[in-house]
Amino acid sequence: ADEFDFDVLVIGAGPGGYVAAIRAAQLGLKTACAESRETLGGTCLNVGCIPSKAMLHASEYYDAAANGAFAKLGIKVTPELDLDTMHGQRRDAVKQLTGGIEFLFKKNKVTWLKGKASFEDAHKVKVGDQTVTAKNVVIATGSSVTPLPGVTIDQKVVVDSTGALELPKVPQHMVVIGGGVIGLELGSVWRRLGAKVTCVEFLDQILPGFDGEVRKEANKIFKKQGIEFKLGTKVTNVAVNGDTATLTLEPAAGGEATTIEADSVLVSIGRKPNTDGLGLEKIGLTPNQRGQIETDHDFRTAVSGVWAIGDVIPGPMLAHKAEDEGIAVAENIAGQHGIVNHDVIPSVVYTWPEIAGVGLTEEAARERGEVKVGKFPMLANSRAKTNHEPDGFVKVIADAKTDRVLGVWCIASVAGTMIAQAAQAMEFGATSEDIAYTCHAHPTHSEAIKEAAMAVTGKPIHI
Ligand code: FAD
Ligand code: NAI
Repeated sequence: ADEFDFDVLVIGAGPGGYVAAIRAAQLGLKTACAESRETLGGTCLNVGCIPSKAMLHASEYYDAAANGAFAKLGIKVTPELDLDTMHGQRRDAVKQLTGGIEFLFKKNKVTWLKGKASFEDAHKVKVGDQTVTAKNVVIATGSSVTPLPGVTIDQKVVVDSTGALELPKVPQHMVVIGGGVIGLELGSVWRRLGAKVTCVEFLDQILPGFDGEVRKEANKIFKKQGIEFKLGTKVTNVAVNGDTATLTLEPAAGGEATTIEADSVLVSIGRKPNTDGLGLEKIGLTPNQRGQIETDHDFRTAVSGVWAIGDVIPGPMLAHKAEDEGIAVAENIAGQHGIVNHDVIPSVVYTWPEIAGVGLTEEAARERGEVKVGKFPMLANSRAKTNHEPDGFVKVIADAKTDRVLGVWCIASVAGTMIAQAAQAMEFGATSEDIAYTCHAHPTHSEAIKEAAMAVTGKPIHI
């Protein structure tokens, strides 16, 4: 491939792009990765998954100390919040992990091209002030915050997720616009640290896309924790005056307007694919109505030699989905057979308790045919009960005829870890009986998955 500078040029170094670049290099392809940020790792490592989990982890301990959960265990403490140190450990986590990707690039001989990339033609890309050619180009430009029309994000009073990770002091009243994953995770962080939190959601329930029963139960748990919800409500105006904002709310279906005041407003109404300034018009590639770049099952776009993965293509905007697509696209470019099973992508909300699911919701499964559902409450799981973690349940949905598992949903303190076994079972085409007859270590939260699987055919032991 001497006619090109590189075999593969990846645009974007998020979990999709950096993984694609490393795998391509591992497969012996001469690889470069263009990134406009100062550090590698994309949204996930810099301003997403990692810093949000750093704040969730720290604030969870603070909350446990402050709300009496430690006292219940015989540990008496009066916590004092040192927000600067909390932010410091968040920044350290990000620095170490983004530095880790830089190390992996060097180790695998991936060339990092610093700067914003834009197409000149399908094999020629401008990165900053240099131009490089590549036989294959992978678009992995990710996504950014969807703005709310008429609302300016000033990162002081009105923030997006990036601003909400870095607030220099605990707000008195934070209004979260959008009861999705970001709103609930970051709303939880500041609620735990002492803010009053109100969540305004357009739909009549939080967490769209999750199983209906899970959405309802999650709503109940968050309410109990003190988050106030205004469901079926839209924000029509946010007026900032100095340090406070006045929000105008209306019922989603229209009706009388009310106002509330807040010293912090988090806009978290979704994310949109990054395609602006990429020069897609120069290669004749047009995003779909939702702004996404369409690909085939191998992650080829409509333009020969140009591929796309991650948040910029259709599907859930999740880091592990982007990573798996990164591996698959590199393998396909190398002439191998990279596949991602989009029916089995787990989804986790890292609140307390955690909320996780994989496969079909009960509603979607019922639309497709007859199903059997097994449920098991965490209250009846010995480990959860002993740990004073009674909230939540596991639900296993199986095909009524074949018993094949179609979906698993859990609310439990460690649901994110528990869901891995469900994904693996589904990937192997397991039946609920397969899970029920797999030996699970005792006492673990995961036994609740086994018991929910036993409940599919009506035979759990502990309830
Ligand atoms: P990105 O990570 O967005 O990376 C794209 C990169 O491309 C960026 O660094 C960008 O600077 C660069 N880029 C864009 N255009 C150009 C250009 N023209 N030239 C050069 N570089 C360019 N997902 C999870 O699975 N778990 C979580 O816990 C989780 N938590 C999250 C928390 C928050 C607050 C947010 C905002 C997101 C979270 N996500 C989480 C979602 C996750 O971050 C994304 O799904 C993931 O980062 C997508 O990876 P990507 O590689 O497609 O894109
Ligand atoms: P989201 O799509 O999860 O939730 C947005 C919410 O805002 C929805 O409930 C929607 O109905 C509501 N909404 C939309 N417009 C509104 C309006 N005008 N007024 C009130 N409510 C409105 O999007 P979110 O939370 O911004 O997250 C973006 C993406 O980041 C998600 O797709 C998610 O996949 C990813 N992410 C994943 C995490 C994880 O895996 N743990 C954590 C954080 C983000």
